[in-house]
Amino acid sequence: MAALPAIASTVEQLDDAIDVHRARGASIAVVMTMGALHSGHAELIKVARGAADVVVVTIFVNPLQFGPDEDLDRYPRQLARDVDVCAREGASIVFAPAPEVVYPATPLVTVTAGRLGDRLCGRSRPGHFDGVLTVVAKLLHLVGPDVAVFGEKDAQQLVLIRRMVADLDFRVEVVGVPTIREPDGLAMSSRNALLTPDDRVHALALHRALQAGEAAADAGPDAVRRAVRSVFDEVGANVRLDYAELVDPRTLGRLDQAGEGLLAVAAWVGSTRLIDNVVLNVGESAGKARTHKEP
Ligand code: PAF
Repeated sequence: MAALPAIASTVEQLDDAIDVHRARGASIAVVMTMGALHSGHAELIKVARGAADVVVVTIFVNPLQFGPDEDLDRYPRQLARDVDVCAREGASIVFAPAPEVVYPATPLVTVTAGRLGDRLCGRSRPGHFDGVLTVVAKLLHLVGPDVAVFGEKDAQQLVLIRRMVADLDFRVEVVGVPTIREPDGLAMSSRNALLTPDDRVHALALHRALQAGEAAADAGPDAVRRAVRSVFDEVGANVRLDYAELVDPRTLGRLDQAGEGLLAVAAWVGSTRLIDNVVLNVGESAGKARTHKEP
């Protein structure tokens, strides 16, 4: 049986748990999550373990990144099971604060994602990335890690976190980890737990669309867009497309020439919104998908 991590729910408990390791000169990696941990999170913890001596996992469903009509209330919460996952993967500390610990008062000053935060997911989730960056900034301050590990499934989030860290001089190394998928290709996500059995089948359209885009990559950006569209046209009303965009992976601006492209999709499957992406070499000479490269 793996050793249980220290569980901290207050800032004082977190400080005490981290001080023990800092006192012996250990390096710290943080994996930030909203809980409902799955194999994708397990992979983040594994990478974090390889990057530092001690891993802190934060579990906090951040109200600031949910819009008024979004799924804050039904977002899956399962702390005891999450702690088991953290124990199994060798995390040393779990920080699982209540909302009033992270936000003792409604914050007046928050981080603004800027124009990159208005694209892709930001168009249908206004303010979402301001909420994400604000809590990531707070958790970076609270944990004080040497390394912070994030999944590449949330590609726009990762781009924005890298920009925040660079633009605001956070002293932390950000590491991105490729998306982990179910055997049939569905990207692992805590929101998959909200899918009905029918939704689960329909959800595969996102991965199929990315594969279709990948297969068309040699023929250029327009061909990629057409291929992706045709998959969503076929599935009809079961999957409501939010966006399917081929963009520059760093600027998130529309990609119209040959080169590296981030193909990102978001769609409603039943009442659950899912996202997925792949990085492609678009153009005449190459067309193979590969893992998201560090910018
Ligand atoms: O990716 C997530 O789970 C969340 O957006 C994060 C980074 C933990 C911030 O709440």
